[in-house]
Amino acid sequence: MGSAVHLSSAELYERALELLPGGVNSPVRAMRSIGRDPIFVARGEGPDLVDVDGNRYVDWMMSWGPLIAGHAHPEVIAAVTAAAAAGTSFGAPTEAEVDLAAEVVRRVPSAEMVRLVSSGTEASMSALRLARAATGRDRIAKFAGAYHGHVDGLLADAGSGLATQGIPASPGVTAAQAADTVVVPWGAVPDGELAAILCEPYPANMGLVLPPEGFLVALRERADETGALLIFDEVISGCRVAPGGAQEREAVTPDLSILGKVIGGGLPAAAYAGRRDLMERVAPAGDVYQAGTLSGNPLATAAGLATLKLLDEGAYARLDRLTETLADGLREAAADAGVPVHVCHTTALLTVFFSEEPVYDYEDAKACDTEGYAAFCRAMLDRGVYLPPSQFEAWFPSLAHGDAHVERTLEAAREAFAS
Ligand SMILES: Cc1ncc(COP(=O)(O)O)c(C=O)c1O
Repeated sequence: MGSAVHLSSAELYERALELLPGGVNSPVRAMRSIGRDPIFVARGEGPDLVDVDGNRYVDWMMSWGPLIAGHAHPEVIAAVTAAAAAGTSFGAPTEAEVDLAAEVVRRVPSAEMVRLVSSGTEASMSALRLARAATGRDRIAKFAGAYHGHVDGLLADAGSGLATQGIPASPGVTAAQAADTVVVPWGAVPDGELAAILCEPYPANMGLVLPPEGFLVALRERADETGALLIFDEVISGCRVAPGGAQEREAVTPDLSILGKVIGGGLPAAAYAGRRDLMERVAPAGDVYQAGTLSGNPLATAAGLATLKLLDEGAYARLDRLTETLADGLREAAADAGVPVHVCHTTALLTVFFSEEPVYDYEDAKACDTEGYAAFCRAMLDRGVYLPPSQFEAWFPSLAHGDAHVERTLEAAREAFAS
């Protein structure tokens, strides 16, 4: 039974600590790395988040990326509501799954066929299984500071929550699983007989770090020379930095792509997609087994389709302009206050690194002044601006944000940098 009185964030956290490990269901939410207790959310409205204590924030986190249309966008809510009224899950095919797959194929250059799943982790895990089956090889190369979900073999030197907690790798991963992962620094081209070279083409889990000039092409070439598959994890960048993601923007086509976040519009949908000959290895077309009770869930496909419908050319142009204005304003505010930061941005993604130098890889990201970031983040929260509570994450500008929200954020930033 729910309680009749409304509990504060502090009271809810105390209760949650008894029931959930660390009081949360995903580690970075605990806000430990910025030295405060978590904020419990009551609701979201467009660009705003409202907490159970009645505070309102401009939200630049947007549920870590899925909400590119903002919170509770009326068209997304209408689509989800209509879908729910017709039944929440069937475990049988629906038209919307085919429509969402068609939309992914239309947008994403590498996608000829699609398998829908429920989380980015599940998509990564399944894409690796397929790559191993297709190549008959075991080893995968990944990049330091990249995060591909909590897949056992991919937790070595992973960004995001592991970077935030300073965890180099998780216990519970077998030596055999770890041995099948080769970790290379971002910017180095992996060598050897690999099943796959796996990367985030625009890494955003050590904070946003863009690829060096020509690097993605070099990965494509190395994969072709060595018979490895090239896999782009576009869970963050997919349908965000361009209609077809980073692969469209950089004109480099991987063999397989991993998608999530935006394609689910805030509900659990993700996908792996790619060349037809590879995807036809997936059961029941082929012999590589992968299944899911809630895969292609009607609510999630409805939210995904409604969200993608909002993302036309004009939407990307707006996101691009908005992010640029925000990035420029943050650079100027920091410079005026004499705080050394490096702001990295692209369309609808941004990170403020507390660093005198540009950040090119995970070593650079780890060398940032994380205490400085934590103080900035706390000061911004105090001023009604909600940022990712970790240096190793990106901000997620959305279609719900406008010039007024950028201006409010910059006003808060001028004070926060000064303090
Ligand atoms: C690039 C990337 N891949 C995979 C994942 C895992 O997705 P999920 O959290 O849906 O399992 C994430 C999550 O943030 C991600 O950023």
